[in-house]
Amino acid sequence: FTVPEPTNEPVKTYAPGSAERASLQEAIRTARSQVKDIPMYIGSEEIRTENTQPLHPPHDHGHVLGHFHEGDKGHVTQAVNAALGAKPAWENMHWEQRAAIFLKAADLLSGPYRDQINAATMLGQSKNAYQAEIDAACELIDFLRFNVKFMTEIYAQQPPISGTGVWNRTEHRPLEGFVFAITPFNFTAIAGNLPTAPAMMGNTVVWKPAHTQIYAAHVLMQVFKEAGVPDGVINLIYVDGPDAGEVIFSHPDFAGLHFTGSTGVFQHLWKTIGQNISRYKSYPRIVGETGGKDFVIAHKSADPKAVATALSRGAFEYQGQKCSAASRAYIPANLWEEVKRFLLADLASMKMGGTEDFGNFINAVIDEKAFDKISGYIEEAKKSPNVELIAGGNYDKSKGYFIEPTVLLVQDPLYKTMVEEIFGPVLTLYVYQGDHFEEALELVDQTSPYALTGAVFSRDRYAIELATTKLRHAAGNFYINDKPTGAVVGQQPFGGARASGTNDKAGSMVNLLRWVSPRTIKETF
Ligand code: NAD
Ligand code: ALA
Repeated sequence: FTVPEPTNEPVKTYAPGSAERASLQEAIRTARSQVKDIPMYIGSEEIRTENTQPLHPPHDHGHVLGHFHEGDKGHVTQAVNAALGAKPAWENMHWEQRAAIFLKAADLLSGPYRDQINAATMLGQSKNAYQAEIDAACELIDFLRFNVKFMTEIYAQQPPISGTGVWNRTEHRPLEGFVFAITPFNFTAIAGNLPTAPAMMGNTVVWKPAHTQIYAAHVLMQVFKEAGVPDGVINLIYVDGPDAGEVIFSHPDFAGLHFTGSTGVFQHLWKTIGQNISRYKSYPRIVGETGGKDFVIAHKSADPKAVATALSRGAFEYQGQKCSAASRAYIPANLWEEVKRFLLADLASMKMGGTEDFGNFINAVIDEKAFDKISGYIEEAKKSPNVELIAGGNYDKSKGYFIEPTVLLVQDPLYKTMVEEIFGPVLTLYVYQGDHFEEALELVDQTSPYALTGAVFSRDRYAIELATTKLRHAAGNFYINDKPTGAVVGQQPFGGARASGTNDKAGSMVNLLRWVSPRTIKETF
């Protein structure tokens, strides 16, 4: 039995005047004009509560997209019970059948649901059409198709050695219990991947998305249902994180956490799991992709235009709210003026506004809390005598949470915007003496607790080799002469170490293996 050899989903460009742009614009108009009623999905039920909360586009917070029904601890218990109830049938379903369901989900996203999921991501999370397309459509479709392929390879693995009268085999059992998937606001693909990867391997899941991602999560749930994911296999709840955690992390059948979000929250969850460890039937699997402070370092031999492009794209795509976003850069003095010229020219061409206008490259940051945090960093930097504002610095939340792409130049490589994750459109630069490349590498490696993505730019092979060696542990995804964002499933498996995560590469066999607990069987004749 084989599954189709996956290839990456082609990216649609939504060029001006194209039929695909017209179709997506129509989906956006429809999504804006219908106020949706968004229930939770537990077992076979759509759950509606008395507690409804509005959803707004971050770039137009006066507009109401819909209302979701918020649940409480009782709903979490109900979701856990639904997951446990669905488990026996699901884990005993042959993996070929499970593969068919997730391949169908990929096809639905590629075809009939593409505009809808892109429109939901554009409106709900304020992504422009291209950023939505590479996330909600292409990356998620790739996650599903490539994971099905990796799953096939796991089940088809060479069995252990057997001899005459003995047959040894390995059964890739799912975990005993249920998996808790917690997803962040910034990628619809992650929202889709975190519950489906464990489910593919025969697990059942309770899924809690970020509140600001609920619109897209709701559309994904329609896709999963239409693809044939049985009731109770993926249970979608909208419950305050700590409330959900209180129920789940004290449950004896809690078997695994598939988390993406901030480092602080992940460390808190890990501690909670540790405190409860004696309650569980099995040691839970803990998989987390967390924060970043991703770097670009240029060598004195680098092409300044390529460096500037990497900075403008890498730092400001999706308003700097990618975990992979370039947020600190180390530029040699000999390149600085040219890098600055190209960078300012790039920034001048970036229009800011709502996602409905496809000409806008910069949209809004996710919510008021993020806006206040990011603008706080900018204000403090503006007042600091040792920080120079190179570009941007303005912000306005009257209609949407808009912050200009902001570039800061610091004298101190340890200044707070050089080391702390801001998660917004703020890039901090430090100019070093070009002959001190090794010292600059040391700063990159030692001044941040994170190790998610990073890039080196150089036309000198020796410098590339030096950076690759010295920065071995500074990034889980390391780019040579390219921006540090935009990993493609099947090409650059994604994930970081240190404070950036457990590095169980999303969309890889390594990740799927975390969701099985193999049983070795010896039979003698
Ligand atoms: P967040 O940590 O605020 O929230 C993530 C999720 O955790 C949300 O669903 C939230 O509701 C939930 N949560 C919060 N507190 C909780 C608790 N006590 N118990 C249970 N759940 C709880 O992160 P965010 O703002 O949604 O996303 C941005 C963060 O995610 C950034 O730090 C970014 O670097 C990180 N991220 C990392 C990767 C990666 O691959 N490493 C990818 C995307 C995002
Ligand atoms: N996978 C996303 C990227 O590489 C986070 O940008």
